[in-house]
Order: sequence, then C-alpha cells, then structure tokens
Amino acid sequence: MARINLFEKVEGTIPEKYKYRPVEELAARVREIKAQLGNRLFIPGHHYQKNEVIQFADAAGDSLQLAQISAENREADYIVFCGVHFMAETADILTGDNQTVVLPDMRAGCSMADMADIEQTERAWIALQEEFGDTMIPLTYVNSTAAIKAFVGRNGGATVTSSNARKMLEWAFQQKKRILFLPDQHLGRNTAFDLGVELSEMGLWNPLKEEMEYPDGKADDIKMILWKGHCSVHENFRLEHIEQLRDTEQNRKILVHPECSYEVVQASDLNGSTKYIIDVIKAAEPGSKWAVGTEMNLVQRLASQHPDKDIISLNPEMCPCLTMNRIDLPHLVWSLERIIKGEPVNVIKVNKQTASDAKTAIERMFAFV
Ligand code: 13P
Ligand code: SF4
Repeated sequence: MARINLFEKVEGTIPEKYKYRPVEELAARVREIKAQLGNRLFIPGHHYQKNEVIQFADAAGDSLQLAQISAENREADYIVFCGVHFMAETADILTGDNQTVVLPDMRAGCSMADMADIEQTERAWIALQEEFGDTMIPLTYVNSTAAIKAFVGRNGGATVTSSNARKMLEWAFQQKKRILFLPDQHLGRNTAFDLGVELSEMGLWNPLKEEMEYPDGKADDIKMILWKGHCSVHENFRLEHIEQLRDTEQNRKILVHPECSYEVVQASDLNGSTKYIIDVIKAAEPGSKWAVGTEMNLVQRLASQHPDKDIISLNPEMCPCLTMNRIDLPHLVWSLERIIKGEPVNVIKVNKQTASDAKTAIERMFAFV
C-alpha cells in the first residue's frame, strides 16, 4: 500500500527517510553530487561545524573569511552554506543575482543575532538620539540579521567581525564621539576596553526595558553604548573555570574568544577571533598546554589535529553550539539532492533594498581588511 509522506511536501522540513540512510551512503552521495556539479557548486563551512559536515567544505573559515570568500566567488550557481542563518544572508548579499544560496537547515539560527530585531533597533536609535543627539555611529557584529546590517549601512556605520573589531572601532571613533554596538555586549566591551575606553564610559542598552543601564548614572561620559545581547555558547565560560585551572595547573595557558565576558577575557592569557585561536594553537610549542574558551567542535578538532599539544576546553562540561549543529550530513545531502532535482529548498534571499544597504555596511568593513 502506498504511503503519503506528508513531511515531503513541507518546504524546509527534511523527509524522514534521510534519517535512516547509513552515514557511508550519505557521504558517498555528497562526493557524487560534488563531482557532478563541479564548480557550479560551492560549499563554505564555518569552523564550528561538525566533522561530518566540514569534511565536505570547499573552504573552511571564520565569519570574516567566509564573507570574503563568498564575495569573491562568481562562478558557483549554488552556494550551500554550512553555518548559521546570518552567514548565509551575508553570502546572499555579497553574491550575484544569478547565484543561489542555500542553508541546509533553516533552524540553524544564532541566539545572539536573535537578541536584536530591527524594530527594537529603530526604537532604540530614536530614544538614544533624544539623549545624545547626532553624536553616535552604529556598528554591528556580523552576527546580526540583514535588516540590522542595512540599518547600520543607512546610518553611516559598518559591520565588524571578531577579527577586525579593533580597527573598526578605531575608525568609528574618528567619525563620531559615541558608538552604538550591536548585538554582542561582550565583543563591544572587550574591544573598547582594549582601546582605552573605561568601563564607566560604557552604557548598556536594554532592548526589553528600552532603557540604558549606566555604570554610575553619568550619561555625558558615555562613549560606548553596548546592546544587551550575548552568545549563549561563550557565556558558559566563567571566571570560576579559570580560577580552578589557575589553582591546579599553573602552566596551562588560557585562550578565549572575545565573545566571552569581560571578566573571563581579563583573566585569560590570550584572546582573539576564531582564526586567531587556530593560529595560536598551530604556532604553539609541542608539549604546551592549553585551555580554550570557544565552541566545542572547534576545540575538539584542534585537540585531534595537534596531538603533540595538550588541548582541553576551558569548561569541561561545554556543549557545541546547538544551532550550528543543526547542519548535519542528512540535511546536507537533502539540500544537495534538491539542487540536482532542480528544486532547491531553504533558499536564502534577502530583499533588494535591505541587501543594498547591508552591502554598504559590509563594504565599509572590507575597506579595512
Ligand atoms: P568568528 O567566526 O568571527 O570568530 O565568530 C564566532 C562565532 O560565534 C560565529 O558564530
Ligand atoms: Fe551564535 Fe554563539 Fe552559536 Fe556563534 S557560537 S552561532 S554567536 S550562538
């Protein structure tokens, strides 16, 4: 008796059958489709992706590298983005109209990007202008929606990534007295502090209460307005983890991502972007010991790629980024098979005006890297 698979008809939902296909068969299918499509297909993968996926990436990188690689690729008809939603949006913004960007699983979002929506941002901008007048420039971490990037582009600002945040803040302070930094308070605070901005000169915009939280109530001193958002992965590295390690293992170096809190970054030995973390570990002495505060898939990969070094996670109970992990082998195969069928699913398309304004913000950043 024929069975109707209701799921098969729902756009964005993987048919059940993919869950039951053996891993070897799925992996062989990816190889087959990649060979069939050749340069018509390009698969970028973020370093936080699982091994079962990243092994098939044509290029692996951090947010900045993947944005640059997407901007340079003009020959692929299909870009199957193994990362999260905001990264696929950025790829769509930077690629041609004839190129189709696909996110294998639409549930691969980013909890940090979700902490700032465009309506909240526009309301905040109006309220902050009432307080500070025309003294602010907006900057947004690329971990944000296309609509927020577009808002920033329209208002004279730029995007930043963890690799170039310092340069971008320096540039922004040459334009205006104050920066509104979205949506990651920690990257904003850590970078501004590095540049000599005191904590007392940083206010925190609470988008839920729609009000500023001042360190000591003095609005005039504020140079940096931080959006109250954070990464739900990196916030799990805490000062107590560093204190425990310092008590037991004095010769283990602590290396963290600047999405970690100010307290954690200050107590660590080194901090920097995903690329920086990879480069530091690569260059480290054999036998050296490291506790790394970033996403778990990457920490485990670094540990297995550098067996001559002792690499652990700063938080032993850490889990991988759940949304990054939505992209798995079954979703990759499903999205590739739909491309072969001529019926791509989960196509990421940013509307023209938003894409154009967001591109302005991204290109202001590219001018500095
Ligand atoms: P980078 O790739 O810029 O280091 O950002 C890390 C991250 O959290 C990506 O979602
Ligand atoms: Fe978002 Fe954090 Fe996951 Fe990166 S690691 S995708 S910032 S939740």
